Amino acid sequence: MKKTILVTGGLGYIGSHTVVELQENNYDVVVIDSLSNSIREVAERIASITKMPIKLYIADINDESLIDALFKQETIDGVIHFAAHKAVGESVQNPFKYYRNNIDGMITLQKVMRQYHVDTIVFSSSCTVYGDTKNSPINETHPVTEAISPYGTTKLVCEQILKDLCRYSGFRGIILRYFNPVGAHPSACIGELPIGVPDNLVPYITQTAAGIRDKLTVFGNDYNTADGTNIRDYIHVVDLARAHVKALDYAFTMHQDYEIFNLGTGKGHSVLEVIKAFEQASGKPLPYAIGARRAGDIEQIWADATKAAQLLKWTHQYNLYDMMDTAWKWQIALNHKQSRQG
Ligand code: NAD
Ligand code: WQD
Repeated sequence: MKKTILVTGGLGYIGSHTVVELQENNYDVVVIDSLSNSIREVAERIASITKMPIKLYIADINDESLIDALFKQETIDGVIHFAAHKAVGESVQNPFKYYRNNIDGMITLQKVMRQYHVDTIVFSSSCTVYGDTKNSPINETHPVTEAISPYGTTKLVCEQILKDLCRYSGFRGIILRYFNPVGAHPSACIGELPIGVPDNLVPYITQTAAGIRDKLTVFGNDYNTADGTNIRDYIHVVDLARAHVKALDYAFTMHQDYEIFNLGTGKGHSVLEVIKAFEQASGKPLPYAIGARRAGDIEQIWADATKAAQLLKWTHQYNLYDMMDTAWKWQIALNHKQSRQG
């Protein structure tokens, strides 16, 4: 029998790609999304890829009576919990917005799950929990450190809440620590939808190439790396989405417990390497200038994802060129949509 998965934040960037993979792997999906950082049309775009409808609740996971009604109405077998605010800079300006949404949301969701005896959850965490480290590649036993932003604090606290519930309340949980998700679905029907000026590198690059921004500023070239720019582990969002299906399959085989997995390619790339890969994939030169360091940036970090390979039988399939190629095709598709809408 098909299992039904509740996907919180399922219209967002990583959530939408995961809904596609779930539907294509024989799971039924119920999505709840508040549209705080997404649009309703994403549901139609997902359906245009999978040719399957999704059951959609436009609501906030902090609305306990509504979550209760949802669990009463649907037979939920497991949950993938993406719904959260994610802008690191905004979290420094407005920490309570982040504590309320991300931590309260986790508590409300898990409280209702417990009430309805739904005990299986996959949670979106981040490599941000490793803080500033010089010891890459990082595996899951690497100590987590005091968070460098309120956003990071919410990930640490939510991880801890989940661990408690796995220890004492019979939950089985998977914590996925993503490195840097980029790229878009190869269909160019779904991808990242940054609102306003993007903070992250790849949407800034694609918007610059599309003429929306004048030029990219590379935040520092005086780091202790081969070309002086920061190194990150960029991972294609479709690879990440596939890992969620594997993680869920694995969670259903677990007894009460939790497991943590890093999701990255295991390879670091510098900012200048990303620019070069983008230029190759798009066939366009990218205007950029070297600027000052960005406060809070870590010099270099990349994953040791061996555990995911061994236990989940997951490994990445897309390389940096594919990430840039799909990100650029998505940007072109977005420009077309926006020009059609005037
Ligand atoms: P996103 O903003 O694109 O998606 C999040 C979705 O959740 C949005 O559709 C938003 O409307 C929804 N949402 C937010 N708060 C909600 C609430 N209270 N109730 C219902 N819906 C709500 O973000 P994303 O990049 O897809 O990230 C998904 C998850 O992965 C987040 O938890 C994020 O912290 C985590 N993560 C993201 C990255 C990244 O770089 N994108 C890296 C590491 C971890
Ligand atoms: C990547 C590299 C920048 C923009 C953030 C969050 C982290 C996680 C992933 C959620 C860095 C450089 C960037 C620009 C640049 N998210 N850069 N010019 O900072 O690694 O991680 O997203 O959990 O928590 O902090 O990603 O894409 O912002 O930056 O030179 O205009 O690109 O300095 O080296 P980051 P990013």
